[in-house]
Amino acid sequence: MPILASDSETLFRLMKEVYPLAYSHFWVDKGDWYVYSQYSKENILKELSVENAAYYFVLYNDEIIGNFRFVWDEKLAGLSEEKQVKLHRIYLHQKTQGKGIGKKLLSWLEEKAKQKGYKIIWLDTMDEQPQAFEFYKKMGYTYHSHTFLPFDLLHKEVRKMSQVFKKLDKITH
Ligand SMILES: CC(C)(COP(=O)(O)OP(=O)(O)OC[C@H]1O[C@@H](n2cnc3c(N)ncnc32)[C@H](O)[C@@H]1OP(=O)(O)O)[C@@H](O)C(=O)NCCC(=O)NCCS
Repeated sequence: MPILASDSETLFRLMKEVYPLAYSHFWVDKGDWYVYSQYSKENILKELSVENAAYYFVLYNDEIIGNFRFVWDEKLAGLSEEKQVKLHRIYLHQKTQGKGIGKKLLSWLEEKAKQKGYKIIWLDTMDEQPQAFEFYKKMGYTYHSHTFLPFDLLHKEVRKMSQVFKKLDKITH
């Protein structure tokens, strides 16, 4: 279900619950600053207005349990393929993790990207979040490069973020 400008409050409330369950231990302030900055109405509207980007709520049993966003044509430095799509965010509520929803969403995006002629999907993932890191590995993503997040409130030992990518095969059918 696409996220609309009028959904900014719903998205904020969702992430105020979902984000700390996965990441509060990474932050001095339990992630409050991050959630308020990323999910302020202003930032949500800015992200919604980006051309070539898509932002969706994830529904499970008619309940909004997560969200994900991707950006067509955003490129990873050092990869030469022309047609790349970046998965910018994917967050599922803790109560619905491990049920195959993430896998389904990634497969859906991969299929969509292939049909549009895209060759690469890539994303940033934090090394110290094994749940996400292992998930992407399992889905066939491989390491490309890494950076360190500059946020002061983020504990130093969890700042490493890797860029991982997957080459999309040609459609065989
Ligand atoms: C990371 C996330 C998107 C994964 O989605 P999910 O629906 O929980 O994962 P799935 O149930 O689809 O799992 C897919 C595969 O990854 C594997 N996997 C998932 N979590 C894993 C873990 N912690 N360790 C090892 N493997 C894992 C599963 O075993 C499964 O493999 P299988 O198909 O062989 O059984 C989701 O858990 C999430 O939103 N987590 C919190 C927020 C977050 O960290 N987001 C990423 C931001 S970059």
